[in-house]
Parts: sequence; structure tokens; C-alpha cells
Amino acid sequence: MFSTPRGTRDILSDELAVRRRAEGILRETFERYGYREIQTPIFENIELLTAKSGEEILKHLYSFEDKSGRKLALRPELSAPTIRLYVNELRHKSKPRKLYYLENCFRYERPQMGRYREFWQAGVEFIGSTKPEAEAEVIDLAVKCLENLGLSNFSLSIGHLGIIRDILNGYGIEDKMQNHIISLLDKGEVKGIAELPITDSAKEILFQVTEIKGGREKVFKKLGSMLESDSRKALEEFDEILSFMEKFGVKKYKLNLGIARGLDYYTGMVFEIHEKGLGAQNQICGGGSYSLVKLFGGGELPSSGFAFGFDRLMLALAKEKRLPSSDKTPKIFIIPTSKKALQRAIGISKMLREKTSCDLELMGRKLDKSLSYADSEKIPYVVIVKDDSSDDMVILRDMESGDQKTLKIIEVPDAIK
Ligand code: HAM
Repeated sequence: MFSTPRGTRDILSDELAVRRRAEGILRETFERYGYREIQTPIFENIELLTAKSGEEILKHLYSFEDKSGRKLALRPELSAPTIRLYVNELRHKSKPRKLYYLENCFRYERPQMGRYREFWQAGVEFIGSTKPEAEAEVIDLAVKCLENLGLSNFSLSIGHLGIIRDILNGYGIEDKMQNHIISLLDKGEVKGIAELPITDSAKEILFQVTEIKGGREKVFKKLGSMLESDSRKALEEFDEILSFMEKFGVKKYKLNLGIARGLDYYTGMVFEIHEKGLGAQNQICGGGSYSLVKLFGGGELPSSGFAFGFDRLMLALAKEKRLPSSDKTPKIFIIPTSKKALQRAIGISKMLREKTSCDLELMGRKLDKSLSYADSEKIPYVVIVKDDSSDDMVILRDMESGDQKTLKIIEVPDAIK
């Protein structure tokens, strides 16, 4: 027996049917906000994924060489591939471009509940606007998706890396060191920051700012008193995003200036959504505004977006008992009572499949065995086809009540619930 590779799973039909329903809800919500779906390859040239992904992602990359020695890697996320696609295919189109995806990603992480090596992301990228109203709509969309799925036990935290970067710029700290600091902040490695070769006053203000959490008024009062006037541009922008976001209807949120995110490309607003009660891996969504287009050969073009960890959404739905119902069991099982009846049954299956889902006994089993199979598969109706029927009559059996009636084939679709 072979098992699946560590950190990957098989998904069986019942679970997959539920996932498909949830995917449908997300797709519909994305589309209602004007996003269009795209697909990109499962693997990319490694440079694309290492260009600005950040230390954490690099450690977890599945990388390999193909037979011609090309260095490739399985995608760990979809923002970089989406921006590559944008630069290659869509950069001459009018702006903005609103793109969404629902695809699998791969990270070589230590597997545990809610953390896999193959997992699915459902996300959007709003490409081409710096406007606070655009960023506000992105956050609103993330919340709307969760509401449409029926989730309520989640919390939204919003931060702004522009504020942190402004402070670090003020101390003359260069980009590479800034990314390293942000990556340490993301992992909560305060000790690591304490040991960095930057001034004590830079460390001090960094610690103070990233500790700031809470409601809008309190946070802005604190930040306003702490920041130099040249660090206030990002703060003003942040304030505008929040005002627009509230206009869109998102009122339940907390500010957390300590949100750093594990990817290097974020520049401004960042946000995370956590599901309460999911344990250690409870971050169901992460996103923010970032700059990748220029790096990939397009012009300076800011973007923002987010991705849900789709598997974690499913865990959240199960936890909140809000898994969408989805019954994909065939409605009818057709049982021919003899070899000759099979000829008729095949014709009947073709006819019924124009109207509903139906399966056909193809194992040559006797009636009683076929009935117990239909019962074990929870198929609600059975059509029994005899070879001696000279006309178009069949027997319809309701498997739950055991009631049987003889009727014309064309009457069957209307006779089932
Ligand atoms: P991320 O926070 O690295 O952001 O991943 C997004 C979400 O994917 C996480 O919030 C989490 O729910 C899920 N996730 C990450 N790793 C795993 C794993 N090993 N197993 C299960 N779920 C996982 C990004 O990837 C950005 N590209 C999001 C983004 C889009 N930012 C702007 N646009």
C-alpha cells in the first residue's frame, strides 16, 4: 500500500462536493465585485518565486530542476504568478485589472491541523490603483466572502507596513534590512530584532509602534503623538482607507500595527483574518497592498489583494457547523432484471439522464443484491426494468418508504421528488 506524500491528502467525493459548493459561493462573490478568474501553471521559473517572496517562503519552496536543467519551483502562493501573467498578457489593457484564482499551492512546512504541504488558496488581486477606496473595497470583499459562506466567528485585524517602513526610512535603514525586520516581526522574533545592527532608538520606536493595537481612535491618537511629521503620510492614507472601508460596511475590525506578513512585497495596508477556535493555524486570510508589477518588468503599478486558505475556510465552516450541504448522489438507480432487460435499461438510462442524474446496474447483480447496493449508496429511487414489458412501463421504488408503483418511463422524472 502507498500513502499520500506527507502533508498532502486525498479528497473523497462527499467532501469534494461540499468544497465545490463553497468554491461556487466564493467565485460568485468575487465575480459580483467585478473580478475575472485566471489560471497559471502549477510550477514557475524559480526566479519569479524568489524575486520578492521573503525569507519564510524561500525556506519552504519545493524546487527542482527539469531534464534540461531549468530551475523550477511549485508555486507557494499566487500573487507573483498573477502579476507575471498581468505583465505578460494584460499590461496594455485598461486599468484596473481585477483577477481572481482558486488553485493549489505548495509549501514544505511542518504539517499539522490546518497546515498542509499542498493546500488551496482562493484569492484576488486588484491591479492598478493606489487609491484608498480600492484597498477598502478589497477588505470589504474578503469580509463579504466570509459572510456569504455563513461564517461569523472571525476577527479582522488591519495594519500598515507603510507606517513601519516610513519609520525605518527615517532612520536610513535600507530595503533589505527593512524586509528582514518585517520578516522577524511577522514571526514575533523580538529577540532577533534586538540583536540587529540598527540604532537603539530605531528599535525602541519599532517595538512601541508594533505593540499598538485596538480601536481606530485609540490607535491613531497614540500613533499621532509618536510619529515625526514626515512619517505621517502613511498614517493619513491609513485613515482614509479605514473611512472608505467603513463606508463599504466593514465596521467590525481591530487595528494592529504589529502585523508584518511573511512576504516581502507588501508596502502599505496589510490585513489578516483569524477564525476563533481553530487552534494554532487559525489565520484564514491574509492580504494587503504591494508592489510587484515593476519588479516583473511592467511600469510602477501598485496592487492589493488577499488570499483565503481554502482548506482552513473548510475547517472554519465545519467548526461553525455551516458547511454548505451538497448531495451529489444519483437520484435514480436503474436495475434490469435480466440480460435482455439490460438492453431496455440502457435506453432508459439515456432518456432519464436528459432529465436527472441516474446510475445503472452494470455488475450483472440480481435484483435483491442491486437493491441493497442502491440502499447502501443512499440512492433515493430505483427503477426496475423487466424484459417482458411489451410497452414502456417500469417499476419505480421509493427507497426510503419502500413504496413501489408501475408507471410509464416518461412519468418517472415527475414522480420523483
Ligand atoms: P499568505 O498569508 O502567505 O499570503 O497565505 C494566504 C493564506 O493561505 C493564509 O492566510 C492561510 O490561510 C493559507 N495558508 C498558507 N500556508 C498554508 C499551509 N501550509 N496550509 C494551509 N493553508 C495555508 C499569501 O500567500 C499572499 N499571496 C496573499 C495575497 C494576495 N496578498 C496579496 N494578494
